[in-house]
Amino acid sequence: MKENILVLGSINIDYVTFAKRFPRPGETITGTDFSIFQGGKGANQAIAISKLGCPTWMLGKVGDDQLKQFALDTLQYYNVNTNFVDISQNVSTGSASIWVNKNGENSIIIYPGANAKVGIKFINKNKKAFLLAQWLLSQFEIPLSSVMHGLKIARENNIFTVVDPAPAQKISNCEFWNLVDFLLPNEIEIQDITGKKDLLESIIALKNKGVKEVVVKMGAKGACYEKNNQLIIIPGYPVARVIDTTGAGDCFNAGFVKGMIEFHDIEKAIKLANYASSYSIQKKGAAISFPTEKEILRNGH
Ligand code: RIB
Repeated sequence: MKENILVLGSINIDYVTFAKRFPRPGETITGTDFSIFQGGKGANQAIAISKLGCPTWMLGKVGDDQLKQFALDTLQYYNVNTNFVDISQNVSTGSASIWVNKNGENSIIIYPGANAKVGIKFINKNKKAFLLAQWLLSQFEIPLSSVMHGLKIARENNIFTVVDPAPAQKISNCEFWNLVDFLLPNEIEIQDITGKKDLLESIIALKNKGVKEVVVKMGAKGACYEKNNQLIIIPGYPVARVIDTTGAGDCFNAGFVKGMIEFHDIEKAIKLANYASSYSIQKKGAAISFPTEKEILRNGH
């Protein structure tokens, strides 16, 4: 049986400039390419998991501007249901200014716009979205109180919860961690959240706070998790050339959830996630670079 996904999160438009290197403060340099792409961690994850064949609903907001249609059209083009996406008045659609250097590394500044208006009242108005889903994915580009509210409704409805704590924020409310089944930070985010340098210690600390499972994304090195007090590293897939790492973490999350649905096994799910994200970094853009289910299967996953 297909399992349905609900993504409670951000919708951005990405303005991406490619350049040999990042400029220094006060410096002007000439880029090598520029594109406007669909982005936002929420929308990216919704598109990535939908491309992997899972029926997906987006719960979020766009602004009342020209960009809203681009965002809605792209989500719909990739079969993401937008019935629970509202248009917020007097605010712009979320945006991200992104620089990508010749190694495919990026620097991102987001402006939340309508994403900041994804509040508790809006979530309550769309509570029926939760009745459709077996999995909830959320991130920290919408207000934290809204993420927490979404997690509570998910728990009431026996929905698996997956949280990408990006951009990282300190969480003081202990109840939050009890509501998270799978936490998928990267190495920097887990350090910021726990204040610890050691990965194993950080994972154990979060599990002691109530998170059921923590998987840390380590870029080219792959990803790791904790088993019997040991750090288990699942290596990443080497690629010939890294073009653009934007959205690789979002693609990882989608691959991980798809893997859990298919295999009910954390190591197999991480392998699939590593493969999906390695695929995405070989093309420009976030959503547009994610693999389809066919592309994954073609490569034996
Ligand atoms: O994770 C990548 C995303 O982060 C970009 O698409 C950008 O919109 C920011 O939200």
